[in-house]
Amino acid sequence: MRELLVATANKGKLREIELLLQGTVARLFSPVDFPTLPEVVEDGETFTDNAVKKARSAAIATGMPVIADDSGLVVDQLDGRPGVRSARFAGETASDADNNARLLRELAGVPAERRTAAFRCVIALCMPDGACMTFAGALNGVILDEPRGTAGFGYDPLFLVPEFGQTLAELPLEVKNAISHRGRAFAWLKEYLQCLQDP
Ligand code: IMP
Repeated sequence: MRELLVATANKGKLREIELLLQGTVARLFSPVDFPTLPEVVEDGETFTDNAVKKARSAAIATGMPVIADDSGLVVDQLDGRPGVRSARFAGETASDADNNARLLRELAGVPAERRTAAFRCVIALCMPDGACMTFAGALNGVILDEPRGTAGFGYDPLFLVPEFGQTLAELPLEVKNAISHRGRAFAWLKEYLQCLQDP
């Protein structure tokens, strides 16, 4: 595929996605290139609902193939919260720091063995006629009781990847992309896009 619009306004995600799709798509566009793109309310009950809603409306509006992802943190002790509400866990205008502070408050006193969690990601690829495909990925980890590391975004400083003994905010971006929920979902998407290129 030569051209693809990535429907995300999150600069942290956009940086990761550019790296993930290097060599697969000749030219990536972002919402900055389409200032009149319709706003989408992320009110779905699942990551798939939200990803499809975002990608489909942008594909119909622009006439381009579009990808959008929806992702979030699913914490076992909190019955899957914050889930699809990860970006707004501490309120509509919450910052990453506010959301992390709320997560630490809700898990205060919970021992390490019950602080298990997963990041989940669903990518939707939609065409201008509204047809969509979805690709999913997950990464398991443990929520620490204080932040570690300065890289990444969102809940990265609190998310320990047991196999590495480091948080996602301590791992280099190349490593995060190789193991992350988004990296895994993108690996499926890339495989699909590469199949399309084969004669
Ligand atoms: P989305 O933009 O609606 O997909 O919201 C995703 C929210 O989930 C972000 O704002 C973060 O709070 C959290 N999140 C998703 N992926 C990551 C990640 O890779 N690291 C840290 N937080 C993430």
